[in-house]
Amino acid sequence: MNIPDDAFYALLIQALQQREGETLQRTLYHALRQAILEGQLRPLSRLPGSRAIAQQLMLSRNTINAALDQLATEGYLLRDRQGSQVATLPQTAASEMPAQTSVDLPPHLAQLPPGTRRDSPTLAFTPGMPAVNYFPLPLWRRLLDRVLREEGSLLLGYGDSAGEPSLRMAIARHLALSRGIDCDASQIAITEGAREGLNLCTQLLSERGQMAWLEDPGYFGARSAFVSAGLAFQGLPVDDEGMRFPPAASPSPRLIFTSPSHQYPLGTLMSAARRLALLERARQEDAWIIEDDYDSEFRYSGVPIPAMLGMVPNAPVVYLGTFSKTLFPSLRIGFMVMPKALALSVQPAIDSLLRGGHRVEQRALALFIEEGHYARHLASMRRLYRKRQGQLRAALQQELTVPHHISAGEGGMHLTVKVPGVDDGRVVDLARQFQLAPAALSRFYLDPSQGETGFVLGYGNTSASRFVAGIRTLNRLIVQTQRERG
Ligand SMILES: Cc1ncc(COP(=O)(O)O)c(C=O)c1O
Repeated sequence: MNIPDDAFYALLIQALQQREGETLQRTLYHALRQAILEGQLRPLSRLPGSRAIAQQLMLSRNTINAALDQLATEGYLLRDRQGSQVATLPQTAASEMPAQTSVDLPPHLAQLPPGTRRDSPTLAFTPGMPAVNYFPLPLWRRLLDRVLREEGSLLLGYGDSAGEPSLRMAIARHLALSRGIDCDASQIAITEGAREGLNLCTQLLSERGQMAWLEDPGYFGARSAFVSAGLAFQGLPVDDEGMRFPPAASPSPRLIFTSPSHQYPLGTLMSAARRLALLERARQEDAWIIEDDYDSEFRYSGVPIPAMLGMVPNAPVVYLGTFSKTLFPSLRIGFMVMPKALALSVQPAIDSLLRGGHRVEQRALALFIEEGHYARHLASMRRLYRKRQGQLRAALQQELTVPHHISAGEGGMHLTVKVPGVDDGRVVDLARQFQLAPAALSRFYLDPSQGETGFVLGYGNTSASRFVAGIRTLNRLIVQTQRERG
């Protein structure tokens, strides 16, 4: 052996003395494995026989043999009739691995926008957070229970990779009524929220290095998806009619991300003329439009605006929907709707990329929609949010004394207030101490230093009783930061 018997036994005795909760066998195994990895026991050196080790340590021979056998199974020792010999392992022993405080990721990930803090649904003005306290939990519990009772362990295996057929059928029926989309279940894939739908679009429809257009300001989830897919991207400004695209573009876009029903965060509704022009442009460029319809169920004036997907036959559009705003975010169920030909073409890829899961929740959601609870919940949330929007506008009029302008906002669950020349990031940081969590408008721009400033005020999760005091505090913080800046 390369270390004297004394040192060998000292090593094992010390490990046994320091043993905490582990079995004797595991303790010996760990001590020997570490000595081999660190080179204290060199390759090809022989260990004493198991009988000798057992006698020396006053342990049973079975315990010693079990530890040695385990090391042999994992390839640290070679065991034969003559005893145990240390195996020859590659040079990089564990002890030689440099200690790391951080790890270098692929450089393109440095372009990811920072994550958003959504840690508490109770902070006032959090954008994108629905009134989760109004969700009919007892009913939801009953539906989950019913699905489990009726189908039980049948639902515990993998499901259809595109999601539960009953949910896809229910969504198709709902979309025909509420969004003017004529589709069937085969055109729908259930995703883990709109986010996964976006990632799936990049995987299915684009290649690394291709160009993607997105709205600027816009939803940072789109930027995250494009960055992680290695796409180049260009921000397009948004005016009163929606996304404004350049007359000629080089390189051509492959993907175009837009939220035409309620631009995020400005709240603009894309005009019919702009929609048709964008559809035509996408056709010319051989691009796909990704239509993010995140909160269009909540429209408070006029008739609902049909989706772009249903506007013209064979529109090159993938429609993304989500239940994060209409029900609750942690449900993590969204869906994408594709034109028929695309749905057919991507089916094998979807089968390869996705695994059908969350079957119980998906079945319960299908019942929730089919039995009319979804339509009822939407109607009641629409009433609540419409009222809250009016109350928030009133609070802004009364309490916001600094010059400001409320950007469009015919629906949804947030109002965007432009406040020129304010350090909106700092105000938002300060506001958290007062249990307020609006978002800084400048943060939604690709280059925040060039963006307009102001606040995105979510009212979905905020009781109207907090509006006046909340806006008063926000106003005070704006004035305070403006004074600090001189
Ligand atoms: C503009 C926009 N689109 C889509 C989503 C939906 O995301 P998900 O369905 O992944 O929760 C959000 C949520 O914050 C959003 O703000």
